[in-house]
This record gives sequence, structure tokens and C-alpha cells, in this order.
Amino acid sequence: MDRMVSRRRLVQVSAAGAGVAALSPMLLRTAMAAPPPLEKKDKYKVGFSQVEMNNPWRTAQTASMQDEAKKLGHELVYTEAGGSEAKQIADVDSMIAQQVDLIFLAPRSEKPLAQAVLKAKDAGIPVILLDRDVDQTIAKPGEDYVCFIGSNFIQEGARAAEWLAQTMGGTATIIELEGTTGSSPAMDRQKGFRDFLAGTYVSEENLGTPAPAPSGGFPGMQVVASQTGDFARDEGRTVFETLYQANPTANAVYAHNDEMALGAIAALEAAGKVPGTDVVIVSIDGSRDALQAIVDGKLGATVECNPRFGPKAFETMMQYANGEQIETKIINPDRFFDATNAEEFLDEAY
Ligand code: AHR
Repeated sequence: MDRMVSRRRLVQVSAAGAGVAALSPMLLRTAMAAPPPLEKKDKYKVGFSQVEMNNPWRTAQTASMQDEAKKLGHELVYTEAGGSEAKQIADVDSMIAQQVDLIFLAPRSEKPLAQAVLKAKDAGIPVILLDRDVDQTIAKPGEDYVCFIGSNFIQEGARAAEWLAQTMGGTATIIELEGTTGSSPAMDRQKGFRDFLAGTYVSEENLGTPAPAPSGGFPGMQVVASQTGDFARDEGRTVFETLYQANPTANAVYAHNDEMALGAIAALEAAGKVPGTDVVIVSIDGSRDALQAIVDGKLGATVECNPRFGPKAFETMMQYANGEQIETKIINPDRFFDATNAEEFLDEAY
């Protein structure tokens, strides 16, 4: 069950003790085990640490955060780490030095950025994680940071697996293009996909879809090669070229995001193959280029991972400031796009 955190409870605990020295050991532990409070104000100076801007998903996420901050009149201190953990840690340090009221952090990978969360907590600045999580053995939701807002990546992987298993009739030779090594979407999308095919997938949050795989799973669905393409189109293309040369009988691709799937499509076309016919491809995100590729018959399906975080992020920040109970894991609902509906959603895609 998700834990909840209430800023008001922390404030009550601190006020009652009139200082840490006056708190009983039990109350002290309670106080230390909560993220820093957020003072109630009309306008905030808020940090948003973006990991990179190398694909349309990130562009849409940044635009959503900037638009919402502007609409609500908050000052947004925006940084972009260029895909570097070291730069992103330095970006958080800079936000701490600028004394922002709260930090929205989209962490590149789980372990290094967990340390940045702890630094912000030490500085008395609450953190809300957007779209990727940190290692919870290092930093815990509801204690070290307020909450995680994003998709259920395990479910995304399982939905991709379900579509591919059905489309391939339970038999396929699969190349997997993984996302950024050490990032929560790469780890969880792999787990969801593999667990579903093995028949061991469980929907921990009872999201309803996909239904469990048949007992024993799909033994005819074999992942023969798997390597990171770092969520990038160019890298996805070059990695796929190498893996496909080594596995020329592959007839399916599972890409952890649309950009790498589009890279694989380009590589297949350059090799004289027909994507969608010779090799069936499924991916995750729901970008405009991906929906167009579905309409064109090159991409089979994409599981949505919604990048438009602005409204939910700022709504959650205000609820936290108001002392409301905050779920430590807030899951965005995601749709599914294939040949039956891609054209319908093309205009609204990013
Ligand atoms: O963390 C979400 C992932 O990050 C998206 O699927 C990907 O496209 C992005 O870079």
C-alpha cells in the first residue's frame, strides 16, 4: 500500500516540540522521516531539472512544465543536463544555492540522482520526482522526497508484450532496444515485457490491463539480443544495425521508446527490409512520428507514456503546500495506439 505524507503533520510535530531538542526520540524520528515542508504562498520559485532534450517526449514535457508555471505565475528555474548525471547533480546543487522553494526532478538514472534528492532534503527543499524514479533503498518517497508522478513502466512493458505475443501468434525472434542504463523506465519496461512473456507478470496496482498471460507464458517468444540505445533515435539505429546483423532471423523488435523504434525502422529500410512486414515493431511513448509510422504501416503499436506533466505537477505542489495528504506514487493513465486508432490521435500528438 502506498504511504502518505502530510506536511501539516510535520509542522504540528515541530511546533509541539519547539525545536528538535524538545522532541521525544519517537517524534524526532517522525519529523526526520518526512520531506521538508513547503511554506504556503501565492507564488513560488520552483526548480525543474530536465535530464535531456534529445527527443520530442522531452520537448513536450518541458513545454508542459513551462506553460503551466507561466499560467500560474510561478518563477521556473529551468536546467537541462544534456544526458549527464554529473551535470544534473550540479544543476540540483545550483537550485539549492538559488534557494528555490521546491524542485521538480526528472532524474536520468536511479542511483546517482538519489544522492541529489538527499542533498535537497538536507537543504530543506522538498522534491517531487517527475517521470523517473530514484533508488528507494537510498531515498524514500514520503520521507526523502514528496512523491513520484509518472507512468507505470512495468505495465507499459507488459502491454507491449501482450500486443506482440498476440500479433505474432505466440512465436517470435525478438531484438530488444533498451532505454538508458540504470534508469527506472529501462529497468521496469524490460521487467514488464519479460515477466509477461514468462507468464509471471502481476499488476501490482491492479491497473486492469493487460490480463495475466496464460500459465507458462509464451515460450515461443524469444528475446535473442538486448542492448541499450539510450532512448535516442541515432543510437537506436546503430545498435539495431549491429544486433540485426548478428541475428538476421529476428522478426520482431521491442523498443523501450519510439525514438529507438524509429531508428530501427530507418535501419531496416536501409537494409532493404520492409518494417511492419519483415520485422514487426512495438514501442512506448506515443509521439507524433510514431503514430505516423503506425498509419504508414511501419510501426505496429506504441504504448502511451504521457509527457504532459505540468498540470498534475503544480497541482500536487499546491496540495502539498496546503498540508493535504499526498500519495507517494501518482500514476498517469496511459492509452494504447495501434492501426485501429493512430490516425484519430495524430493531430493531438506531440
Ligand atoms: O522516462 C520516460 C522516457 O524518457 C520516455 O519514454 C523517453 O522517450 C524519455 O527520454
